[in-house]
Amino acid sequence: MEEKKPKPTSRRVAASGDAEVSAYLEIAEQKGGHMPLPEEALRGEKEAVVVVDFGSQYSHLIARRVRESHVYCEIAQHDTPWEEIASLNPRGIILSGGPSNVYEPGAPLAPTWVYESRLPVLGICYGMQVLAHQLGGKVVPATKREYGHAILYQNIPDSELFHGLPSSMPVWMSHGDQISHLPPGFEALAYTENSPIAVMGNDQGILGLQFHPEVAHTPHGKSILENFLYRICGCRGLWTPGSFVNQSVEQIREQVGNGRVICALSGGVDSAVAAVLVHRAVGDQLTCIFVNNGLLRREEPERILDTFQRNLKMNLVYKDAAEHFLRRIRGVTDPEEKRRAVGEEFIRVFEEEASNMGRVDFLAQGTLYPDVIESKTSESTVAAKIKTHHNVGGLPKHMKLSLIEPLRYLFKDEVRGVGLALGLPEEMVYRQPFPGPGLAIRIIGEVTEEKLEVLRAADWVVMDEIKAANLYRDLWQSFAVLTDTRTVGVMGDFRTYGYVVAVRAVVSEDAMTADWARLPYEVLSTISNRIVNEVPQVNRGVYDITSKPPGTIEWE
Ligand code: XMP
Repeated sequence: MEEKKPKPTSRRVAASGDAEVSAYLEIAEQKGGHMPLPEEALRGEKEAVVVVDFGSQYSHLIARRVRESHVYCEIAQHDTPWEEIASLNPRGIILSGGPSNVYEPGAPLAPTWVYESRLPVLGICYGMQVLAHQLGGKVVPATKREYGHAILYQNIPDSELFHGLPSSMPVWMSHGDQISHLPPGFEALAYTENSPIAVMGNDQGILGLQFHPEVAHTPHGKSILENFLYRICGCRGLWTPGSFVNQSVEQIREQVGNGRVICALSGGVDSAVAAVLVHRAVGDQLTCIFVNNGLLRREEPERILDTFQRNLKMNLVYKDAAEHFLRRIRGVTDPEEKRRAVGEEFIRVFEEEASNMGRVDFLAQGTLYPDVIESKTSESTVAAKIKTHHNVGGLPKHMKLSLIEPLRYLFKDEVRGVGLALGLPEEMVYRQPFPGPGLAIRIIGEVTEEKLEVLRAADWVVMDEIKAANLYRDLWQSFAVLTDTRTVGVMGDFRTYGYVVAVRAVVSEDAMTADWARLPYEVLSTISNRIVNEVPQVNRGVYDITSKPPGTIEWE
């Protein structure tokens, strides 16, 4: 792996909690349902549906919807070789939407394996136009661009695709082109006011939808997709957290053999789940390294040691490097400089600890699917991108470690499901994201041991009250920030001059945008009272009511 020098302009530095940056790439946060493990899955059988991505902003969402229906799904590009697809044991193919026009030279089309495989195919929007174009129909610019809600009317009463659904239903449209002539052997299964051929199909299970079934604005979209998966492709619903655990334990054993594995724990859910999975597969061949950078919240290091060492009985090297980190960031006030310093120090300590362990063959990381898709779609920067988002991105080349990334095909909510299936405590599985540079970027200005203690005490109150009010899981993040402003106050007969603590709580689906949380006044009032009473250096609390954009979630 290449050594990574973080760019001074970047907000991102590889650090112990950087797995949480995958949050940036995550799309809508929704919990999947739980199903008992089907017998076929226990026997190791697999099935999948493949989404061929034509560049739609919704391709990830289609994959998620399919997986939420318990069918494994991967995203393929139009040049992905058939051998790769075949190894997934595909039952059907979905062609995504996309920004192109099929009649333009160079427009992306479906690879030949889509038709040669003889599998059922569902084309969505542009994907439908691709089917029409390649199979002998005609696509033309629509006289009226259709965007937003439309009512879909079925033409025939008993189509498998609309099984159990009403004869008319609201759907979400977004297209400029439409099909004017059906390909031979196809019929129009449904229409809208502006699209005479809004749904088409033939008796080989090749179907096209002009609307988007994957978005929430199409209320029956999930049922339509499930009809495709179960009634047309004949899927059995083998994809569950339990089946994933069984399969990946086998794979990890095969990959690792007698080798030794290291894994950096950050306390975040991704590295925790990756470590527990590898541990289940190869037991003591795994050693985790947990670096205490002195920038963690109150009781955090103890909690991590408790969970992994005492409860899960994993080999854990605990390195208390707090002093090194604090020395390294002494006098640093610039936020980016803090990030860089913490990131570089982390890599140094991690390497030192790893080199004390003798021969090591593998590095386990909690890379998630959105990172992988992101890297694949931007060809030029594949490796670089994955690395920026992960814990030990900058490990030196000479360590020559092969990567184990057991979560690289999972979305964040699936990682949580797997965590629960592995028996990780809920507090860890549903933990709010925490930045790699930790409290260093929640103390405005210079970071000192005294300020860290003040912030830990205030942050403890925020967390305590948010949990007591049962709000923890509804919030993307909730925390305290120690400002460098002091104000005058009065306590009893005395004048005080103390720090201002800001409370930040946001709701978000992906950390790209966030809204300040409308916390109940009583909760805010209790938090403020408790902070001022329990933390002597603080005499004022304020609540941050800035959304992102224009603000960021963190203050630095
Ligand atoms: P901002 O403040 O940019 O944060 O709105 C978005 C999300 O990213 C987290 N964050 C970081 N995570 N290293 C990390 O590992 C960092 O340097 C960093 N900066 C921000 C932040 O907590 C939020 O979830």
